[in-house]
Amino acid sequence: MRSTLDLKWPEPKPPESVSPGRLKVIEAGQDRFHVAINMDGNGRWAQKRGRPRSVGHVAGAKAVRVAVESAPALGITTLTLYAFSSDNWRRPPDEVENLMLLFQRHLDSEAARLTDSGVRLNVIGRRDRLPEALIRRIIHVEEQTRGGTSLHLRIAMDYSAREALLTAAGRVALGITPTREAFERSVGEAVHAPPGTREVDLLIRTGGEQRMSDFLLWESAYAELFFTDILWPDFTEADLAAAVRAFSARDRRYGGISRGPACQVEAQG
Ligand code: FPP
Repeated sequence: MRSTLDLKWPEPKPPESVSPGRLKVIEAGQDRFHVAINMDGNGRWAQKRGRPRSVGHVAGAKAVRVAVESAPALGITTLTLYAFSSDNWRRPPDEVENLMLLFQRHLDSEAARLTDSGVRLNVIGRRDRLPEALIRRIIHVEEQTRGGTSLHLRIAMDYSAREALLTAAGRVALGITPTREAFERSVGEAVHAPPGTREVDLLIRTGGEQRMSDFLLWESAYAELFFTDILWPDFTEADLAAAVRAFSARDRRYGGISRGPACQVEAQG
C-alpha cells in the first residue's frame, strides 16, 4: 500500500535514451541526463612527470574542454564539474591563487567557444570569497551564454554541499514550508544554481579515490556512481563514453523493483 510519504517523494523520471540518434528528437533545452564529475588527480598527473602541481591543473583545464565538447553527443544535457571545493581553501596560498587565475583565464579563453556551441554556463557555489575579477568574469560569461541549449554546464567553485544543506535548513527554521520542492529550491539558491536542474543521474570520480567529498550530496541521492583510476588530465572522450555505457547497463530501482537497465546506449568510443 502506498503511504502519504510515497506521494510526497515521487520517483524521479528516468533519463531518456542517451543514444546519439535519439538526440535529434530531444527538444532543445530539455534536461534529460545529468552527469557530474569530481575531477581528481591533477596533482599526481604533474608529479608523475616531475612537474609542479600547477602544470597538472593546466592539463586539467584542457580535459575540461574535451569533456564539455564530448558531452552533447553522449546525450548529456547537464554537466556539473567540481573545480574547487570550499575545503580547497586549505591548500597552499600559491596553489589557490594559481587555480583562481586559471579559472579566470579559462572563462576568458572559452567564452566565445561556449557561446558558439550553444553551451549555457553557470558557476555554482559561494560568491563572496572568490576574487572580484573572477566574479565579474563569471557574471559576464553567464550572461553571454544564457541562451545556450545544447548543454547546461555547471562549474562548482567554492562549493560545499553540506553548507548548502545547512543554509536551506536555516530557511526552514525561519518558516519556509519543509516540502521537498521548497527545500530543493533553497539548496539551489544557496549555491546560485538556476532552478529546474534535474538531479544527478551519473556521478563520476577520476583519480582512484572513492568518496563524495561534499559534492552534490542532496542532488546525488539516487545517482549511479562510477569511479575510475584515470587521472583527470588523462580523461578522454572515450572514457566519458565508457562511463555513460556503464551507466546505461545499471538497473535503477529508486527503492522499487527491477525495470531493466537505466537506458539503452549506443555511445560512441
Ligand atoms: C583535484 O585534483 C582538482 C582540483 C582541486 C582542481 C580542479 C581544477 C581543474 C580540473 C582545472 C581547471 C578547471 C576549470 C573549470 C577550468 P588534485 O589537484 O587534488 O589532484 P591530486 O589528488 O592528484 O593531488
